[in-house]
Amino acid sequence: MEADFWHEKWQQQQIGFHQQEVNALLQQHWHRLGLEPESQVFVPLCGKSLDMCFLAELGHRILGCELSLTAVEQFFADNRLEVSQSQEGEHRRFDTEQLSIYQGDIFSLPLEVTEEVTGFYDRAALIAWPESMRLAYVKQLAKLLPSGSKGLLVTLDYPQASLSGPPFAVSPDWVATHMAADFEIRPLVSQDVLADNPRFVKKQVPWLTEAAYLLERK
Ligand SMILES: C[S@@+](CC[C@H](N)C(=O)[O-])C[C@H]1O[C@@H](n2cnc3c(N)ncnc32)[C@H](O)[C@@H]1O
Repeated sequence: MEADFWHEKWQQQQIGFHQQEVNALLQQHWHRLGLEPESQVFVPLCGKSLDMCFLAELGHRILGCELSLTAVEQFFADNRLEVSQSQEGEHRRFDTEQLSIYQGDIFSLPLEVTEEVTGFYDRAALIAWPESMRLAYVKQLAKLLPSGSKGLLVTLDYPQASLSGPPFAVSPDWVATHMAADFEIRPLVSQDVLADNPRFVKKQVPWLTEAAYLLERK
């Protein structure tokens, strides 16, 4: 999706993707990565996700990237975090002791920003891109992630013709076909989540699954 689409969504607070609670698959499966508590974890397209707070509470240093200034400001205000700001090139950087968010486009995030990353978490980032842009995102993510870094990917899959995204459907086949060049991929779980998603039920989407994958950057 283009930047204006997301700026408008945040401006109008049409943020149905934002979860009021920490993602259940993150809570259940994060430990499988076996990361040291002090590891730095990259959260691409982070929005104002509470999942970052969960990861910070485990001891991780968080490095987020988010296009929307509104999202970033709301994240720090909602969580009552004191934050300092600086400008780094075309990104505005927001820092607390344990957490940094680069506000701006992930495609122009300088590679040195993620040099120390050893973990990553993608929920509603890969599936935010239409198929025409998804591979470019995967390639940018791969560029930003140091070799050996481990991450959790959370996707949704459903018959794409029954609803226009975002979120866009991403099948296990798509992940295997398009991500295997850059990542070792281990599917962890796939579960039926249709009943928890009223928008999909209302549109009579016949099935909806949420899946988690363990990834390792080659
Ligand atoms: C579907 S939301 C998911 C947010 C978050 N991961 C979550 O779980 O709530 C996708 C987010 O990506 C952000 N975004 C879209 N394009 C971006 C880009 N090029 N660079 C950085 N962030 C972007 C949007 O502003 C939006 O907040």
